[in-house]
Amino acid sequence: MNSSTHNALDQLDSLGWWYQHFQLPNGLWTGDGVEPGYYPQPRWEMIAAHMPADLGGKSVLDLGGNAGYFSIQMKLRGAARCVLVDPYVQFLEQAKFAASQFQVDIEMICEDSHVYCLTTQERFDYVLLLGLLYHLKYPGLVLDRAAEMTRERIYIASAVIGPEVEGPAKKANYERYTEDDLLLDPGFPKMAFIETLYNGDPTNWWLPNHSALPALMRSAGLRVIARPHQHVLVGEPAENFDQQFGTAIYGNLVFPRYGKGDGTTHPGAQSVDAGLWKDLGARAAEFRKRQREGK
Ligand SMILES: C[S@@+](CC[C@H](N)C(=O)[O-])C[C@H]1O[C@@H](n2cnc3c(N)ncnc32)[C@H](O)[C@@H]1O
Repeated sequence: MNSSTHNALDQLDSLGWWYQHFQLPNGLWTGDGVEPGYYPQPRWEMIAAHMPADLGGKSVLDLGGNAGYFSIQMKLRGAARCVLVDPYVQFLEQAKFAASQFQVDIEMICEDSHVYCLTTQERFDYVLLLGLLYHLKYPGLVLDRAAEMTRERIYIASAVIGPEVEGPAKKANYERYTEDDLLLDPGFPKMAFIETLYNGDPTNWWLPNHSALPALMRSAGLRVIARPHQHVLVGEPAENFDQQFGTAIYGNLVFPRYGKGDGTTHPGAQSVDAGLWKDLGARAAEFRKRQREGK
């Protein structure tokens, strides 16, 4: 192992545990794919099949961008500008390191996506909203803004609960009481509200079922053009989007503080819980030790 690989391993050590496990140009991996981390490459292949091979001149917004894997792919595909938004300082440090390894320039914003989307009037050619929706207390609000910010395509990935079934056929109106059963059908769009924790994670708030994702997208003014996986959807602004929707701008918007009693309050910059970060760091150190030993 040469000295630059040693240096990169030291830097990886100092950055702790990674959620996105991918290979750096020097051949080192950020992790071994073990949960709660994952390999994002298959998800990338699903969405990459629905975008031009050359993103030359295009702008990209990566909401909840984590360690930057998808932003880096968009830049490597030629995107002119990429903005990554994530409130967790540890993940942004990783994204800075990963971007430098791939020698790509990404604008990093340490901010909650609610606040970011409600305080910018920028629009982007491509918007990534991957693995974020269920982490939001106000998912419809961010989705509506993200739709409005999208010029060409938006890519949405979300955890989903329940079976992969379509709902009863959509009706223009549901009669109170007499048709409530239709709303309770497992295929009717629904989101489960998580008051406490889901999968031990206090940042999970709403879990959609199979039909809720396209319904939410349609009601945000998007047309769903592909669903390459139950969890992954591709959308674009519907034909009449500009006439039907748009922005309402208030000079003095007040946003509620919210949280789950674990000490964190959102929105604002966040730090991963110290105990959890230590535990995850110990796992990462084990993986790193194996990498040092060439295993
Ligand atoms: C499940 S990970 C998905 C990461 C990445 N987009 C992907 O698909 O691999 C969720 C990411 O969203 C970030 N996140 C959580 N709450 C957020 C919020 N309110 N605004 C923006 N990002 C948030 C987390 O820090 C984390 O990086």
